[in-house]
Amino acid sequence: MALTNESSPALDDLLKQAIQAAQNSYSPYSHFRVGAALKLTSGEIVTGTNVENVSYGLTICAERSALVAAVSRFGPDIRIESVAVANLNQAASPPCGACRQVLAEFVLPSAPVIFPAADGQRVMPFTDLLPLAFDMKL
Ligand code: THU
Repeated sequence: MALTNESSPALDDLLKQAIQAAQNSYSPYSHFRVGAALKLTSGEIVTGTNVENVSYGLTICAERSALVAAVSRFGPDIRIESVAVANLNQAASPPCGACRQVLAEFVLPSAPVIFPAADGQRVMPFTDLLPLAFDMKL
């Protein structure tokens, strides 16, 4: 498990892939170009970018875009062992709350998440980003 703010060559490579994914951003409304890269426990890496819509609320974030791509390619049993988020705007972009909840369904609690924070690049275990994810136990 990566400690808070401890990067690694593997995470740095994942971050590069997130930056690359952000090049494909469709963001004509916000001009905020975001990319996400997910490393699966199988070793596969899947990326995604934000895709906006003129009906603004229909926009999909980079993180959910990557997650949907990963399930589409590799099926419902995937597990995510690390996450990288980047943007091309030199701005902070921690994963939004909705994306945290959606990732929670597939991510290992200890998975390191690297993202640009207000105070610079941060690495945190997923569970620190979303300690009380909703889970339905009926
Ligand atoms: N965005 C993401 O891609 N990920 C996030 O976690 C937060 C926001 C995108 C959505 C929208 O296209 C743009 O950033 C501005 O909100």
